[in-house]
Order: sequence, then structure tokens, then C-alpha cells
Amino acid sequence: MPPFPLSRPRRLRRTEALRALVRETSLVPSQLVLPLFVRSGERVRTPVSSMAGVSQTSVDELLRDAAAAAEAGVGGVLLFGIPDYKDDTGSSAWDDEGPVQRAVRALKREVPHVVVITDVCMCEYTSHGHCGVLVHGEVDNDRTLELLAREALSHARAGADIVAPSDMMDGRVAAIRAALDEAGLTSTSILSYAAKFASAYYGPFREAAESTPHEGDRRGYQMDPANVDEALRETRQDIEEGADMVMVKPAGPFLDVIARVKSETAFPLAAYQVSGEYAMIQSAAERGWIELERAMLESLIGIRRAGADVIITYFAREAARALRER
Ligand code: PBG
Ligand code: ZN
Repeated sequence: MPPFPLSRPRRLRRTEALRALVRETSLVPSQLVLPLFVRSGERVRTPVSSMAGVSQTSVDELLRDAAAAAEAGVGGVLLFGIPDYKDDTGSSAWDDEGPVQRAVRALKREVPHVVVITDVCMCEYTSHGHCGVLVHGEVDNDRTLELLAREALSHARAGADIVAPSDMMDGRVAAIRAALDEAGLTSTSILSYAAKFASAYYGPFREAAESTPHEGDRRGYQMDPANVDEALRETRQDIEEGADMVMVKPAGPFLDVIARVKSETAFPLAAYQVSGEYAMIQSAAERGWIELERAMLESLIGIRRAGADVIITYFAREAARALRER
């Protein structure tokens, strides 16, 4: 690059047309996925106090939200269930009449063009709130695999396009792939939460999903936020076990992890802008300290620039609308 004054980088920043011409990173609605929280009942819409604009809804209301998101161009939805009952093993997770399973069937019927992803984990369904079965106070990896496979199978049978295990048990992708294939569900994809960190940013989500562990925390199975080499090992392992797509979560504080996973695996990559990241932007904007739309789009383009193909975000619908208006 020649030195100033031959080179004047400002020349290409003079107008929006010029800036658009040389823009390096794109963000389009079809790359966005909206998380939705579903529970039983009808005409139920219970706002989540820590997340402006996010609610737990019954299936009928969920269909409205999904249709509005699809209308704005959002590519997919990610479903979390709030079951009617919880027990030690989280058995309501594989109830074919559970809220997630009923929502999947309704979405496939009523909003057929949106990709339906289901979160596969036990923490919403267990009475103790951990992501697997407890044995002597510890989450037992191998016993949990069987339960996750049953849950994933039930979601896939309902018609989910993609099942997304978020539990962080070792070997769960292989266990789920084997269960799906054995049932003839060879076309159902697996998006593994491959590098999921034990993060402080999940706080608002745990209110939304009613999944706070009653005792202890998740550091015995989720990753240490200091580790990036380990994130690569986790990701490679899940790819070898048959994952179709991998995820880094949270997104904003882990952009370097996104960049390395993308460059070293060249695999389809999703990043999850989690509840705490959303709540921070929302609450600062509410106080007038930052501009909501600009901060939202800047956070999302940053995640794309780092290397994510797909972004899971509570902003999906607003972002899709803002992008279309431009
Ligand atoms: C459950 C799960 C969590 C999130 C997605 N799936 C929370 C957790 O691990 O405690 C977090 C999502 C968010 O914060 O938006 N395994
Ligand atoms: Zn969990």
C-alpha cells in the first residue's frame, strides 16, 4: 500500500454507495435464527422480565411469532420447552405431546419455510436443573447420553429439521446420530453446541427457560472461558462424531474462538448471541446510553466478521426488519 498522500483510505468512505460497494461482510436475514420459549396452554404470553420483547408462549402464540419472523426473512427458529412437569431424569423431555414436539408439528404445518431447530438438553426438564442425570451429586455423562438421544429422537420424529444438543456431555453427537439413523431419520441434521462456555451471560435465559440449577453450577461440564485450543478439540470431536454444523456460545466475548474455529475447521458455523448479551444492549439502549438499532447491527456484523455463518439472536426479527429497511 502506497503511503499518504497517494493512499487516502477516506476516498472510499465518502458516500453510502461507495461504502456499500467495498463492504467486506454481509448480514442478511436468512442467516438469523430466533430463539422461542414454548409452554403448554392457549393464548399464553408471559413476558420474561429480564429480556425486553421476549416471552414464554403457548403453541398458538408461538406460531404468530414464528410467522412474523419468517415474514421479516428470518431463516430459522430455535425452540426451548418449558414442560408441565419435571423429575429427576427429565422424562418430560421425550414426551411426544410435550410443548416442543407440538410446536414443531404446528410449525411444519403452518410456517413451512422456516428452518425448525430444537434445543436438546435436560436442564429445562430435570427437577434439579442440571443438564443431565445426577449420580452422587455429579452429572453422569454416559447415563445422560441415552436420555439426550431419546429427546432428540422425539424432536426429530415430530419433524425438526435440526436438533441442537446444548448439554456438553462427551459423546452426545455420536449417540444422537446413531439413534436418529437407527430410526431411519438420516436426514435430520445435528447442530452441536460444540464450544459452549460456562458463562455469566446466561442469566436472563435461565429465567426464560426456568432452568437454573438448584445447587452448584455448570462448570463441571461447560467449558472454561479461558480456553481456545480446547474449543478446537471439542469442535473437531463433534465433527468426527457426525455433527453437520457446530456452534460457539456465547458470541460477543468469544469472537476469537469463532474466528479460530472457522479458519481451522472450515465447517458450517453458528454463533449464539446469548441472553445476557441481548439484555446488556437492550438495557443500555433503554437508558438512552446507546442507540439500539446501531448497537444491535454492530454486534451482529462483528459476529459475522469473526467467521460465523449463522447467528442465533433474540434480535433476529428486529434485525431482519432493520436490514430490509436499509
Ligand atoms: C441450556 C441452555 C442454556 C442456553 C441455551 N441452552 C443455558 C445454560 O447452559 O445454562 C443459554 C442461552 C442464552 O443465554 O440465551 N443448556
Ligand atoms: Zn442444559
